[in-house]
Amino acid sequence: MNKMAQAIRYFELNTGAKIPSVGLGTWQAAPGVVGNAVAAAIKLGYRHIDCAEAYDNQKEIGSVLKKLFDDGVVKREDLWITSKLWCNSHAPEVVPEALNNTLQDLQLDYLDLYLIHWPARMKNGAVGFKPENLTQPDIPSTWRAMEALYDCGKARAIGVSNFSSKKLGDLLEVARVTPAVLQVECHPVWQQPKLHEFCKSKGVHITGYSPLGSPGTGTVKTQVLKNPILNMVAEKLGRSPAQVALRWGMQMGHSVLPKSTNEVRIRENFDVFDWSIPEDLFVKFSEIEQERLIRGTGFVHETYGAYRTIEELWDGEI
Ligand code: A2P
Repeated sequence: MNKMAQAIRYFELNTGAKIPSVGLGTWQAAPGVVGNAVAAAIKLGYRHIDCAEAYDNQKEIGSVLKKLFDDGVVKREDLWITSKLWCNSHAPEVVPEALNNTLQDLQLDYLDLYLIHWPARMKNGAVGFKPENLTQPDIPSTWRAMEALYDCGKARAIGVSNFSSKKLGDLLEVARVTPAVLQVECHPVWQQPKLHEFCKSKGVHITGYSPLGSPGTGTVKTQVLKNPILNMVAEKLGRSPAQVALRWGMQMGHSVLPKSTNEVRIRENFDVFDWSIPEDLFVKFSEIEQERLIRGTGFVHETYGAYRTIEELWDGEI
């Protein structure tokens, strides 16, 4: 069968583990609704949930996971749970404690994947995006602490998020354990072909966050789901623009993390396995004008922290 026409249920990581290709995103899924979304997704067949300490909703997710395990809806070993180390816990001595807190909140004894959330650091325990909270990151020392979590099995894979090719390359130079995953913004309007090629050459899997372009985020003005090329392809295939955006990511070789708290859309976003985008339409995506939508301005300051400009944060990949 043509590779593009396959179901693409999972991708194999450099650890040998299989990461499900579609995961439920939980960023901006508010406490009070995130639990229902996770339960609905798992009942619909999702096996991958993307979490983070910074999303402030892990406790509710943990209660729901426990109930689903107790009720026999799903087994722990059949789920893929990712979480992320927040910027206020980069100091190597607090990294293990940060993972322990996340495991406690999620009521789990291991994660399938633990990521450094941003290549930016805040003072230990600092809360909020105040410029004076920003300080200089030391990624090699934070990574060594991540490697120890991998060695002891509490994180079965480790990786990074929001790293440019340059920052990932620098990490690869010093890493004893190669990152398994780079999680970055990725959708038809921010395709990152160079980063894709670099990761492929190094055996690092890309997970795309905001695969629908985060239409609910106030700071995001460009509407990915309204893109004319995406809509043209969707119309030809009789699919929604969201489904085509997700399938595009999967056919690129990325796992995708659509966030929704609406059961109809959670179902829609999982109906991406038994059809595909044919080559003649797939190539049209290269004509789409590119724009980074999630820019990380909260980590940039002219006086504080490591990055004076957005260009420095992304090493010009902007
Ligand atoms: P909602 O949670 O009400 O469904 P991203 O994953 O790119 O960050 O996008 C998440 C945003 O996209 C949320 O605002 C979510 O709203 C909305 N969304 C999720 N699925 C769909 C869909 N199939 N069609 C349109 N909007 C969607």
